[in-house]
Amino acid sequence: SRRPRVLSGIQPTADSFHVGNYLGALRQWVDLQATHETFYSIVDLHAITVEHEPKLLRQRTRVAAAQLLALGIDPERSTLFVQSQVPAHTQLSWVMECLTGFGEAGRMTQFKDKSGKGGADHTSVGLFTYPILQAADILAYQADAVPVGEDQRQHLELTRNLAQRFNSRFGKTLRVPEPYILKATAKIYDLSEPRAKMSKSSPGGSLDLLADVKASVKKIKSAVTDTEREIRYDEENKPGVSNLLSLLSVFTGTSIPDLEVSYQGKGYGDLKGDLAQVWAEFVTPLQAAVAGYLADPAELDRILSAGAARATAVASKTVADVYQKVGF
Ligand code: ADP
Ligand code: NA
Repeated sequence: SRRPRVLSGIQPTADSFHVGNYLGALRQWVDLQATHETFYSIVDLHAITVEHEPKLLRQRTRVAAAQLLALGIDPERSTLFVQSQVPAHTQLSWVMECLTGFGEAGRMTQFKDKSGKGGADHTSVGLFTYPILQAADILAYQADAVPVGEDQRQHLELTRNLAQRFNSRFGKTLRVPEPYILKATAKIYDLSEPRAKMSKSSPGGSLDLLADVKASVKKIKSAVTDTEREIRYDEENKPGVSNLLSLLSVFTGTSIPDLEVSYQGKGYGDLKGDLAQVWAEFVTPLQAAVAGYLADPAELDRILSAGAARATAVASKTVADVYQKVGF
């Protein structure tokens, strides 16, 4: 019996992953390699649903791959690949689009959030059908489980519905994936605006893996806290301090209550100083490893081509089966 299979993807839409991406997703990708058959995709097809710069996308895709490798995604144990190098995703996506109701797609709340700004003419149809491509990404691999955060639950529900719909119309073909709810690895908040989620769209308060270490130390030291002095975990009233405690807790492996005890009688400066030191120790070797992967483009290409070949071998089987079932 095979290990349960997981599929997960991340967009190459920033110059660096931030600590929220790492703690909310990527760290768990690394851990899952021990228990699951893992497929990890850099989803560049998703990255062109909004306006983009081709040179930058190509560069960010490579830097994303280098970061994943440096963080511990092992290309021998995981199938690590770039989505656009595997034709099965778009091949399956079309069939899934034809199974999706227009109203059903319109109810995806993330589309409503993301499309609000530019108006209808600046919103691509690709952004609208994005969750359907995401469903194809998952179903192509017959994944058992999909690591998801809260924001992706609705998309996974669509994926499950499409798999069930396909199976009931055309015969059992697609595995219906279960959510693999990521452990309460704390949502990470913005350092300068600690009631907002840390995000690549507000780089001012994000802690980026590839940012200059001195600049990050400065950011940590000027993180927004509150006017009290007490180092206590209280998300409601002390979001800034709580966020710093969460971060320090995950990086040191010390529980938050133990941290609270150890900081009795100390100030915010001590907490920030310790976090800054832990951060520097974490990212310094990581940045060196990323630089190492980027310094050898042929090797990086080799890893990604091998990943794409392995992914294609699995996903093209699903496409062949689906195409046969629908009458092609
Ligand atoms: P961003 O919000 O910066 O655009 P993405 O949406 O590309 O990041 O998220 C990639 C992964 O990182 C997702 O699994 C998401 O749940 C996780 N993630 C993003 N931001 C955070 C955060 N602030 N805290 C925890 N996890 C996060
Ligand atoms: Na996001």
